[in-house]
Amino acid sequence: MIERPTKLNAIELNKSIHVETAKDGAVAEIATIALEVKIDPKNIDPEKAKGGFLIYNLDENDYKKRLNLFFLTFSEENKVRGFIMSYDKTFLEQLIKNGEIAHEDGIMQYLQTEINPADNFIFGDQIAISKDNRNREAGTKLMKATLSRMQSMGINNMYVAILHQPIRNEASINFVGRFGFNHTKEVTNSDGLVWGIYHLNIEPKK
Ligand SMILES: CC(C)(COP(=O)(O)OP(=O)(O)OC[C@H]1O[C@@H](n2cnc3c(N)ncnc32)[C@H](O)[C@@H]1OP(=O)(O)O)[C@@H](O)C(=O)NCCC(=O)NCCS
Repeated sequence: MIERPTKLNAIELNKSIHVETAKDGAVAEIATIALEVKIDPKNIDPEKAKGGFLIYNLDENDYKKRLNLFFLTFSEENKVRGFIMSYDKTFLEQLIKNGEIAHEDGIMQYLQTEINPADNFIFGDQIAISKDNRNREAGTKLMKATLSRMQSMGINNMYVAILHQPIRNEASINFVGRFGFNHTKEVTNSDGLVWGIYHLNIEPKK
């Protein structure tokens, strides 16, 4: 049984939060949150992993290179408490071309070869909410904002990759399950980590 933090009042949170496109000035806070939730897959701290985790965190400079319309922050009282970093297909292709996607080869191969080339899509690369702000629907707000942007741009598919081995990111699997993501395939990156690819198809805006 996974221990869960107490669910706080989401309405209370709604009063003071701000979800917006990530700005240059936010990358230091973003890198700090990513570092806070990062685990080392070769030396797993199960206690830390329980609330979800990131593996491939980046430094400030690399987060800066990934700023785009689908990189969003969640702030409260002007402090960044969480972020979601996604890319559309064109932006992802540019990152690959520039050699910016280092470890995620199995995932990228899937996105480049196993998806109908005519389909536009969003790849959700990272989401992280700082520890004290978890389970207050911050992640939900970031995901909803992403889906709403997708809809307004006529993009119907989103893919995310969630670690399955050596440890399953159950918090993240549960989280995406709430939005209707389905598991489509397991892929292995060259570093030996096994990832589940999850897919969501959303209705175009009428
Ligand atoms: C996963 C994460 C983004 C969720 O954000 P959040 O703001 O805490 O989540 P929300 O309050 O919007 O949604 C809560 C839902 O997420 C899931 N969830 C969150 N934490 C969980 C946990 N520790 N165990 C199981 N499910 C969990 C559940 O589905 C939960 O819904 P429920 O309470 O009705 O069961 C956040 O926990 C996080 O940043 N984890 C560390 C980084 C991470 O794992 N990123 C994903 C990498 S693939």
